Amino acid sequence: MVQPDWTWVDEDPGWRPAVIDTSVAHSARMYDYWLGGKTNFAADRALGDEVERIIPTIRFMAGENRRFLGRAVRRLMREEGIDQFLDIGTGIPTEGNTHEVAQLENPDARVVYVDNDPIVLAHARALMVGSPTGRTAYVHADLREPEAILRHPALAETLDLSRPVGLMLVSVLMLLQDAEDPWARVAELRDALPAGSCLVVSHVTGDFDEKAVSTVAEAENEGRLPLAPRGREAVARFFGDWELLEPGVVPVMAWSPDGHAPEDPEAAYYWAGAARKPR
Ligand SMILES: C[S@@+](CC[C@H](N)C(=O)[O-])C[C@H]1O[C@@H](n2cnc3c(N)ncnc32)[C@H](O)[C@@H]1O
Repeated sequence: MVQPDWTWVDEDPGWRPAVIDTSVAHSARMYDYWLGGKTNFAADRALGDEVERIIPTIRFMAGENRRFLGRAVRRLMREEGIDQFLDIGTGIPTEGNTHEVAQLENPDARVVYVDNDPIVLAHARALMVGSPTGRTAYVHADLREPEAILRHPALAETLDLSRPVGLMLVSVLMLLQDAEDPWARVAELRDALPAGSCLVVSHVTGDFDEKAVSTVAEAENEGRLPLAPRGREAVARFFGDWELLEPGVVPVMAWSPDGHAPEDPEAAYYWAGAARKPR
């Protein structure tokens, strides 16, 4: 059997899964619960159920966000010639991970995953096995420290930073508060990438149902999981001066839908878009 080319990177070699606090709900595990996964605990399911009582379509919405991720990877590969990705806020591995979608298009595609959740770290090793010719690396790091991500050896070892990169920030920026200045963090990442690179963003918003989303944000804040839904203009600012790809910043279901357009694109409460760094 051909061994996949797998790079394992651990910021803290002494880390052990025992540090995971399962008594407090966590975004990665709640998302996994809504997607029908098994990597979640009682606290995640309790808060996940509470959110589902407020937004009964939350599982559908999580699925729509996931489908957007797949569509965006395929489009960047087919239309923008991108074959390498930096995916920050990876999530617990599930169906249609970035490298799986990318390596179906091009088996040589390369992906560096970044997440700050120890449980994602634990599962990344077991599940994210790349194609024999492509490469996949995982970096345990925090989006709030872009410098640590950018200077991590796995980045230069796995990706060719002289060629365009697809930067994936899918359903993660809402987990950074305004006070943490997520726009500055994203700008730092954008600046480090070469011309022709693309940024893909999806972001929870209250624009389509303000009351439901603010009730969820309150519940999540109480559950010590601060959530910052944002409006369209605030989401668009993440792209800076990069050129927005058609159709711009739109409801997630309306972004390059495969096949026919959705009947009610605002049924999933996310803004989504992608943009290219000018050449
Ligand atoms: C809702 S999941 C999204 C997973 C995947 N991107 C998707 O859209 O299917 C959010 C992920 O972001 C991670 N995350 C949250 N804050 C982060 C941070 N400051 N740095 C890195 N990852 C973070 C969480 O651990 C979780 O795995």
